[in-house]
Amino acid sequence: MTDTAPSSQSEIRAALLREREVVAGLRLREAFAADPERFRRLSLRLDDMLLDYSKNLVTDVAMALLCQYARAAKVEDRTRRLFEGEKVNGTENRPALHTALRNRTPAPVLVDGRDAMPGIRRNLERMGALVDEVRNGERRGATGQPFRSVVHIGVGGSEVGPRMATIALEAHRLPGLDFHFVANVDGQAIAGALDRVDAATTLFIVASKTFTTEETMTNARTARDWLVARLGEDKAALKHFVAVSGNDAAVDAFGIVPENRFPLWEWVGGRYSLWSAVGLPVALAIGMKGFLEMLDGAQAMDAHFRTAPIEHNMPVILALLGFWYGAFFKAETQAVIPYAEALRALPEYLQQLDMESGGKSVRRDGAPVEGPTGPIVWGGAGSSGQHAFHQRLHQGTRLVPADFILWAEGGGRLGAHHDLLVANGLAQARALMIGKTVEEARGELLAAGASEGEAARLAPHLAMQGNRPSTTILSRRLDPYALGRLIALYEHKVFVQGVLWDIETFDQWGVELGKTMARDIAAALRGQGPLPADSSTTGLLRHCLDLRGGDGI
Ligand code: F6P
Repeated sequence: MTDTAPSSQSEIRAALLREREVVAGLRLREAFAADPERFRRLSLRLDDMLLDYSKNLVTDVAMALLCQYARAAKVEDRTRRLFEGEKVNGTENRPALHTALRNRTPAPVLVDGRDAMPGIRRNLERMGALVDEVRNGERRGATGQPFRSVVHIGVGGSEVGPRMATIALEAHRLPGLDFHFVANVDGQAIAGALDRVDAATTLFIVASKTFTTEETMTNARTARDWLVARLGEDKAALKHFVAVSGNDAAVDAFGIVPENRFPLWEWVGGRYSLWSAVGLPVALAIGMKGFLEMLDGAQAMDAHFRTAPIEHNMPVILALLGFWYGAFFKAETQAVIPYAEALRALPEYLQQLDMESGGKSVRRDGAPVEGPTGPIVWGGAGSSGQHAFHQRLHQGTRLVPADFILWAEGGGRLGAHHDLLVANGLAQARALMIGKTVEEARGELLAAGASEGEAARLAPHLAMQGNRPSTTILSRRLDPYALGRLIALYEHKVFVQGVLWDIETFDQWGVELGKTMARDIAAALRGQGPLPADSSTTGLLRHCLDLRGGDGI
């Protein structure tokens, strides 16, 4: 940038707005044809991980301005504060130290002047002991039989992370245990899991930071009653329960013995808790060694994020692209398309991570935020999605930036499948970028024997605008290390976006009002409380009671 380069955030925004006009004329297929260096300049490497953002609607000037914006927003300083345990969660007045959970170096991490690392290491040792004892059959249930099934009960960050990672790493799963995850308070969820397990050989993990979340506690009580009804004795049955929580008193009241309790520290946000004992199902599934490899992968991304300059920093670049499309293209959504069946739960996981963090409308100082904040994050595993929602990506009227996540190597046994999978992922990103002109479509139709009239009529339907942005993340293979690294990439992307929007990334007050109302409405349904004041909710409640014959819940 020259001496006259803008330096305040508002000046940079104004410059970005001007560059947006330039980008309106950018045709990616021409940009690639004219510039053989585009990929080299607009891609980043971290070991085997390649992040290619060259198929995005950016010029070099736009990227330079965006990086300048990141500097003006003090991304580097806020990142330092995050890692150093400052109270970056301003409304709850606490740090967000999920990075400490994967700190595998001897370096201390101070929380209020005290090193959190001894507690974290002790927790990992205890997790390892439990995993080994369960896996080698030393730890047994009330009837003396070894455990064969794990039922994990939690919701939101206390469930979606371990479920996503357990599914993602199914190829690395050690034999002997099967896994069931229960989140929804719909009784069908817990009933479905209980139908598939044997009480004598089932270990229940109840993960809840607060240990008061209605859904989780209702499911946990149902599971406990079911178990006690089958195994008889209350105390022995509770050998089958493990708790991960920050609320010792509530765990105590539930009756889970101290040796089966794992901490969830106040400074770990729910949606960042996979790295704590909330990840127990993952450790039980792949072994503690694999779990530690996942932490190592996340730590590798932490180190990159903490030290790489903004221009070469993967999470920052991803965040800047999200900011660019939201603020200057009015993109409402962000698609995530992993070309891996094992990552089918990743979009759902990222949805919670991104939308609970970015779904805010005021700045940290309480003033309205400038421009749109978090997008709707959605997606599904490729190649299946190609036969469903990809049509919208190729020919719909709204801009949807897409992330493609690809792996060079597959499971090993079925090479032909994997070649086809990778080819499809690469083809989708290329097709979105290149598109097909009406003229090209017309030519193809004519070559296939269509009449001039038919070709002219059909060509607009077959044409694709192209110029649709995507980012591709390609790594060697999906293993615990690579999964940890990938998740940490998105965690930090979400953090940086929050810094760019200047919002409180680590709270989620928006979910509270509905929780309180649900309690009141449940009381009304039972006939134990007043009906809500608005005629719509009351009308619906009355209809519900009528349909039940007035029997309440
Ligand atoms: O939905 C709000 C939320 O607080 C999430 O952030 C959290 O992951 C989830 O509820 C579960 O909370 P807990 O672990 O306390 O049961």
